[in-house]
Amino acid sequence: MRPYIFITRKLPENVIVKFKEHFEINMWEKEDIPVPREILLEEAKKADALLTMLSDLIDEEVITAGPSLKVIANLAVGYDNIDTHAATKHGIAICNTPDVLTDTTADLTFALLMATARRLIEAAELVKEGNWKSWSPLLLAGHDIHHKTIGIVGMGKIGETVAKRATGFDMEILYHNRSRKPEVEKTIGAQYVPFEELVERSDFIVCLTPLTEETKNLFTREVFQKMKKSAVFINASRGPVVDEAALYDALVEKEIAAAGLDVFTKEPIAADHPLLKLTNVVALPHIGSSSVETRTTMMELCLENIDRVLTGRNPKTLVNKEWKLQLSH
Ligand code: GLV
Ligand code: GLV
Repeated sequence: MRPYIFITRKLPENVIVKFKEHFEINMWEKEDIPVPREILLEEAKKADALLTMLSDLIDEEVITAGPSLKVIANLAVGYDNIDTHAATKHGIAICNTPDVLTDTTADLTFALLMATARRLIEAAELVKEGNWKSWSPLLLAGHDIHHKTIGIVGMGKIGETVAKRATGFDMEILYHNRSRKPEVEKTIGAQYVPFEELVERSDFIVCLTPLTEETKNLFTREVFQKMKKSAVFINASRGPVVDEAALYDALVEKEIAAAGLDVFTKEPIAADHPLLKLTNVVALPHIGSSSVETRTTMMELCLENIDRVLTGRNPKTLVNKEWKLQLSH
């Protein structure tokens, strides 16, 4: 019997077709609705591999649902939706999609920064809604980007690539990260500073840190109060890194100028969420890596990782490094 792969969302046929020769592949039928929990558990019982989305909760119950599960490939660089410790304990490889989405996500992060600073969404809506009455001196005047200070919180590959984008805008680049990045300091001229200093000095605070116990609720009211009143806050990492109520209050009290958010504590965010009522909030539906090219490459990487593990090879992008290939499978 061919090994069985369950994919938790409908992916394009042309991406999966070449894997069908060696594997039995089944997909959740919907493209825009997550797989129901009961179906995920049913499928996990039978599966040798799961290809999961960041919106799927992959806890110990899923991980231990069946006897043949060997690998879970998550279609994202982040894997905070997966209990990696449980996976390691049960000998299951967890894979993500780093590197292939770095440039695309940095592009979106910078686009969000620019859209928020220059009020592009408000401006475009004004024109389309027929409210452009006249050219006026301060019509939708935003904030400059060039020659300003950008502070990047979380200097992984995406952070580094955003910093590279910022050099083209002659920005001063500050960063904060668990570990210093001497090579980035040298090549891009980014300056390592303590978190407080970054928050106080930056015109643009860009959050790209993974969600962990340490980064959960990192951005509190107190942190927003330390920012410049003209600061623009950008989050392209994970929603729970920010206390959203505190962000709302900081925006309403004009403690900061604006926010550009690609991620939220609860996704999809409710249409009546208070943050969405604010004109100085640009909200996107978690599309950081969403270009056709990159999403296709990510799907292929997931399937390649699954293929490798199921055929007794090490995956290309393993998350739980303690996992060991068991040739006895
Ligand atoms: C998207 O947020 C990802 O982690 O790839
Ligand atoms: C980590 O891999 C990142 O791209 O930030």
